[in-house]
Amino acid sequence: MTLPPNYTLHDGYPSVPEYLHLRAASGLTPKTPAQGAAVVQNSWFGCYITYTSPTPENSERSTATPTPVAMGRIISDGGWYFHIADMAVLPEHQRKGLGDIVLKRLLAYIKEHAAEGEPYINLLADPPGRKLYFKNGFVDSAPVSTGMVLDRRRVDI
Ligand SMILES: CC(C)(COP(=O)(O)OP(=O)(O)OC[C@H]1O[C@@H](n2cnc3c(N)ncnc32)[C@H](O)[C@@H]1OP(=O)(O)O)[C@@H](O)C(=O)NCCC(=O)NCCS
Repeated sequence: MTLPPNYTLHDGYPSVPEYLHLRAASGLTPKTPAQGAAVVQNSWFGCYITYTSPTPENSERSTATPTPVAMGRIISDGGWYFHIADMAVLPEHQRKGLGDIVLKRLLAYIKEHAAEGEPYINLLADPPGRKLYFKNGFVDSAPVSTGMVLDRRRVDI
């Protein structure tokens, strides 16, 4: 799939404020600036897509700034364990294939850079992403393994 006009795919991460905005505006839980800084510094790989408003016909050159509108990242040891996180596309840019392009770029990077051997690639799917993940080869890990998350009301670490 190719990007629609005015969109550009980049390896890397949006800035911390852009990341925080992209997550929250996509409907994911908001994070703190310190958490956002760790994402940008410590993830294994990420990519994002910017949108640049088209230049009006009567204007000589574009003054529009490219804005990040989609992203995804991988938390990993770079050897065999790869966890995909922060798949997010701003609502007004959804259903244009951007999520698919981001996911495919993440998977291609794993294929190219993982250590020799079988990679284990997983994610926790929220309902809006399930079809996209299934289309790209993901299946439910249950009943073999099910995701578990620490309930901090029960154990406050
Ligand atoms: C989940 C999410 C990342 C998907 O991003 P997206 O860019 O909308 O995904 P895509 O456009 O690649 O695919 C979504 C649908 O749009 C369709 N689509 C793709 N290009 C299209 C186009 N040009 N016109 C119309 N539909 C299109 C796809 O076929 C797909 O349809 P389907 O779900 O019926 O199979 C996005 O919806 C999102 O950020 N949701 C909120 C945050 C969230 O829940 N993230 C997941 C956490 S696990």
